Amino acid sequence: MQNRDKFTTSRGVMTATLGSAVGLGNIWKFPYFTGKNGGAAFIIIYLICVVLAGLPVMISEFVIGRRANSNPVGAFKKLAPGTAWHAIGYSGIAASFLIMLFYTGVAGWVYSYIFRAISGNFINASPEITREVFGKLITSSYEPIIWQIIVLVVVSSIIIAGVQKGIERMTKALMPLLFVLLLLCDIRALTLPGALNGVEFLFKPDFTKLTREVVIIALGLAFFKLSVGMGTMVTYGSYFDKTQNLPGTAVKVALSDILVSMMAGLAIFPAVFAFGFEPDAGPGLLFITIPMVFSKMPLGNILLAIFFLLTAIAATTAMMSLLEVPVAYLVEEKGCPRTKATLMSAATIALLGSTASLSADTGSLLGGIKIFGKTFFDLYDYISSNILMPMGGLFTVIFIVWVLGKTNLERELSNNGRLNNESVVNLFYIIVKYISPLLIILIFLDSIGILKF
Ligand code: PFF
Repeated sequence: MQNRDKFTTSRGVMTATLGSAVGLGNIWKFPYFTGKNGGAAFIIIYLICVVLAGLPVMISEFVIGRRANSNPVGAFKKLAPGTAWHAIGYSGIAASFLIMLFYTGVAGWVYSYIFRAISGNFINASPEITREVFGKLITSSYEPIIWQIIVLVVVSSIIIAGVQKGIERMTKALMPLLFVLLLLCDIRALTLPGALNGVEFLFKPDFTKLTREVVIIALGLAFFKLSVGMGTMVTYGSYFDKTQNLPGTAVKVALSDILVSMMAGLAIFPAVFAFGFEPDAGPGLLFITIPMVFSKMPLGNILLAIFFLLTAIAATTAMMSLLEVPVAYLVEEKGCPRTKATLMSAATIALLGSTASLSADTGSLLGGIKIFGKTFFDLYDYISSNILMPMGGLFTVIFIVWVLGKTNLERELSNNGRLNNESVVNLFYIIVKYISPLLIILIFLDSIGILKF
């Protein structure tokens, strides 16, 4: 067997895995959902979903990847030969592809905003101006596609460089930088007069807001945030060393990811409130409100460029893990050279991804075309986040318990008895056997409308 490229240090494992988890999700999903759905009350529900579903799936994926030392399709083929379990691997590849289709588009907008901020497009901008700038960008028939291609060139170059020389080296350099830049934005935002209202918006617990929908949102967010249910963590796990502590790594990644999400919220909302703007969701918040808010501060332009730079870093390291999934598959299962596998995947994403870029807004070129009542952009997001990810997660935990079995699991989680973590392993086993599947099934059936409880 050919010698597989691997992460070489424990720190590299951490930065790469955290690089996958930290992404656009932290900056435009988590803070907004938290603020709108009951602040600290939502964070508690989110943490429960992380502990009972997100983390167990992440640990299970690490186990499968590292044990089989293989890409998601190959891993299930090795661990359960002659069965159909490797369908989970294919579903993972499909999900990571679908996410890439729209994620690279949004990342492209973020890249373009770094340059717009530097060139002073937003100095003293009014709401009309920031709205117009964003509208022009996403309704243009070529600009989003060019930026999407630039994003794909950047991510592909890193992936072609390899697991260690590309992913590990880049995330080791970029993740600390991201953290420092975020800290800078936090300090600026929290020292603005009136900043406390933003902190309150983010953290004030309001348990009356906790409805069934909120639980569904929290679970979906836990999966998306931790990059689980789509083969990413199987692939990364296959690059881990046999001495890596799998549960320990997963817990550290999840905690650091939550910290980054909260820091993002603390950079955004105090500023939004200090200048008297309404908190908004997704694209509106990131591309319309934030440029306006930052433009009002002294040195706001520089800070705005820093903010979009850190968002671009977060998105880029997350995309590396997404692209690595089909690339590892093509290299190992189809014997394709790494460069060719990367270029083929990137070209396909560019080609199909333009449908997402060009349909992001009802006013855009393909925005009027609806499939099942959704634009291409929303359809890719819905199928991956609401169907493929929970299903992938569900079958992964079922596989761990019923196919891999408790003895093998104990060996993997304790690194063949070298770690003294029996109680952690027992707790994990009870959660993956009983709680995670039940929680995912209930929420999945509810979210697709089959079951109403
Ligand atoms: N975790 C990333 C985020 O929060 O933005 C998104 C993501 C990356 C999802 C990689 C899935 C994935 F495999």
